[in-house]
Amino acid sequence: MDLEAEFERTVAAEHRVEPRDWMPDGYRKTLIRQIAQHAHSEIIGMQPEGNWISRAPSLRRKAILLAKVQDEAGHGLYLYAATETLGADRGDLTEKLIEGRQKYSSIFNYPTLSYADVGTIGWLVDGAAICNQVPLCRTSYGPYARAMIRICKEESFHQRQGYELLMTMMSGTDAQRAMVQESVDRFWWPSLMMFGPPDAESSNTEQSMAWRIKRNTNDELRQKFVDMTVPQAEKLGVTLPDPELAWNAERGHHDFGRPDWDEFWQVVGGNGPTNAQRVAHRRKAHDDGEWVRAAAAAHAAKRARDEGR
Ligand code: ACO
Repeated sequence: MDLEAEFERTVAAEHRVEPRDWMPDGYRKTLIRQIAQHAHSEIIGMQPEGNWISRAPSLRRKAILLAKVQDEAGHGLYLYAATETLGADRGDLTEKLIEGRQKYSSIFNYPTLSYADVGTIGWLVDGAAICNQVPLCRTSYGPYARAMIRICKEESFHQRQGYELLMTMMSGTDAQRAMVQESVDRFWWPSLMMFGPPDAESSNTEQSMAWRIKRNTNDELRQKFVDMTVPQAEKLGVTLPDPELAWNAERGHHDFGRPDWDEFWQVVGGNGPTNAQRVAHRRKAHDDGEWVRAAAAAHAAKRARDEGR
């Protein structure tokens, strides 16, 4: 049997590729790259919001935020587990992250300057994440697709809590409304950048679409996000900071301005506002956890010895 033809048939038939199936090296490599970046994003993504846990304005808000940040840790763990089914080593991926050899989402390299940012991240950042990740529930690699189903359910809760928080602030004082608008002004463009570079500059899209790892292109999903978000912004009573944003009846979509792609590449290249801080924080947490890993390894070795007796 021709293994490559069998793989192609599985993908074309919309069946899932499973860990023990034969797969091309490039397919495995692409999946490890994308899933690891995704896992790193979840873990680094705990930092911007974690920043506000100790200063949440009520017990209710603190409980919601704690639950949300814990969810992100869980997402990271499912995703690292998915990379392990492809033969990757979690420790090695963490090393690559803290040495700056693997990427994570650009969005988490922006600071959270006000409490409204917790709401805006829920609404826009998690909203963009859902838009990008719902199609990944149909990605061709089984363990990734299955992880995405649970992750998307939790992301929907995150998005709702963010929108509800902003709705509450918008029905508050003028100062609170101004705080929401200022936050939306800062996060709008970086949220659009989350979908990746324009299709013409996206080095991986064509092959990833052919393998059905990605189910939509970056520009398709960005457009979907804009169309979905404009009516939500109107209902909320905020202005999206793009003078070119307008409904185009002919296309049946909103036209919108061009994100600053130079800024995007700067951030992806490690030169965003908080890249150094995010990675340093992750590295410190890893170093501080060294004794836990050493103790767990010693315990496992002792158990193996005892069982071998
Ligand atoms: N931030 C950082 N790097 C990015 C981003 C971004 N927003 N978008 C693209 N890149 C990188 C790509 O990783 C790629 O670099 P590489 O080849 O060195 O790995 C390069 O820019 C070119 O981009 P593409 O060819 O378009 O990359 P790709 O096909 O992987 O598409 C995308 C990028 C859409 C982000 C895809 O990887 C994806 O859907 N990933 C899963 C979702 C995800 O990771 N979400 C994380 C944020 S959401 C959250 O955690 C709440």
